[in-house]
Amino acid sequence: MTDTTKQDRVLIFDTTLRDGEQSPGATMTHAEKIEIAGLLDEMGVDIIEAGFPIASEGDFAAVSEIARLSKNSVICGLARAQFGDIDRCWEAVKHAAHPRIHTFIGTSPLHRAIPNLTMDEMADRIHETVTHARNLCDNVQWSPMDATRTELDYLYRTVEIAIKAGATTINIPDTVGYTAPRESADLIRKLLENVPGADEIIFATHCHNDLGMATANSLAAVEAGARQIECTINGLGERAGNTALEEVVMALKVRNDIMPFQTQVDSTKLMNISRRVATVSGFAVQFNKAIVGKNAFAHESGIHQDGMLKNAETFEIMRPEDVGLTETNIVMGKHSGRAALRSKLENLGYELGDNQLKDVFVRFKELADRKKEIYDDDLIALMRTATDPESDRIKLKSMHVVCGTDGPNVAKMTLIVDGAELSTEQTGDGPVDASFKCIKVLVDHSARLQLYQVHAVTEGTDAQATVSVRLEEDGRIVTGQAANTDTVVSSAQAYIHALNRLLVRREKGGTDKREISYKDAG
Ligand code: KIV
Ligand code: ZN
Repeated sequence: MTDTTKQDRVLIFDTTLRDGEQSPGATMTHAEKIEIAGLLDEMGVDIIEAGFPIASEGDFAAVSEIARLSKNSVICGLARAQFGDIDRCWEAVKHAAHPRIHTFIGTSPLHRAIPNLTMDEMADRIHETVTHARNLCDNVQWSPMDATRTELDYLYRTVEIAIKAGATTINIPDTVGYTAPRESADLIRKLLENVPGADEIIFATHCHNDLGMATANSLAAVEAGARQIECTINGLGERAGNTALEEVVMALKVRNDIMPFQTQVDSTKLMNISRRVATVSGFAVQFNKAIVGKNAFAHESGIHQDGMLKNAETFEIMRPEDVGLTETNIVMGKHSGRAALRSKLENLGYELGDNQLKDVFVRFKELADRKKEIYDDDLIALMRTATDPESDRIKLKSMHVVCGTDGPNVAKMTLIVDGAELSTEQTGDGPVDASFKCIKVLVDHSARLQLYQVHAVTEGTDAQATVSVRLEEDGRIVTGQAANTDTVVSSAQAYIHALNRLLVRREKGGTDKREISYKDAG
């Protein structure tokens, strides 16, 4: 048997809250960022990139609080190659038991052109900024953005400068998802062979998934000597996203025979964090997504089912419980009690306080009246709709819709807005449109509907529909979710959930627009 204790450790660097959250529309609230960081820390992620402190007040506040609350993980913030950025980053991460500053500059010809620096000028900037960061913090990561399209000699030169200036980790980003596995491995190998001091630091790999090769590229880099993988939960991130954390962790675990490396991530927590990130970001996980997709462990076809019954290994290379997927069975019905609900929710990763449990229990009973068999997925959907104590100024009292092939589609709705009962009746292009019009008439807002998504939670015509709605108003982006056996009610509730959050955001002021983006590298 393999002695895994002697295997090299690969550090897992999660950037869901920085690179992932920069994906348009994936904006999370402050409380959601704190929650996700807590789950990452608990799961054994080595380094959490918590945000980009100079980008906005919100980012600064989130990184500072995550740093204060962190237990085991290193807390990292991103900073451009500018003293002001680096100082701001340090102000935020310094509260952590283990802080890290991550500073970067785009080194490829296309990126050098943006701040209009010559190669020599950029080299000087790297020396000055990494030295500055290192004077503040012992743990400094440096990234040559777009490394995979940077001239090799210039890459060697800049990496050497960063190492001499005190960088302890050198990250090699494939910023536009351009590389391929053999090339990704070659690059790390060449850097290790040709850059003086390369054996004294850790090389990281940071791959984007534009060609669908991010996971393969990251693993190839590890085989060539990289010892840190940068990734996000569910592969969240701009365009096609980043390397998915769950994929690299499970690949290293399942194929440890050919990739003998260890991570300290507790894989049984993957499913739960994947669901939370999907909920708070509003980016649903595709059904056939590796590891955490709804179908990843399902065996639909007759042949597969037959094989599975005889021996689970026929079609399964890992067990569902290895990723925290408990067996989907009929969990409860109308007569189930509060203690049973609490224990089932705990199994699914939700720890509830007494008041929250009371609220969920009421809605569980309502659901049980409408739906005979309640599955795990129904409970997860119920949790997505759990009321948000900081934002419930608008409540749906009642609604009725008339729809069909003949005549206009009409919605009648009564809302409670700040305690006052308001009603209206509107026609629309379908029942959802008519319902959304009612909300718009009753609650004054100019938000634009950016996303409207419906998913059936389970099979059967009595299945609940989970609806995600994303609204944008004056640069503020909010998402709302709801689940109901009635798709139109669920849609209205999701819209109201988003609107409630928008009202809170309006009161707090500020926008999600970052003053700067990490692409303004200079
Ligand atoms: O993709 C990229 O180059 C980045 C850097 C900021 C590390 O995210
Ligand atoms: Zn990136």
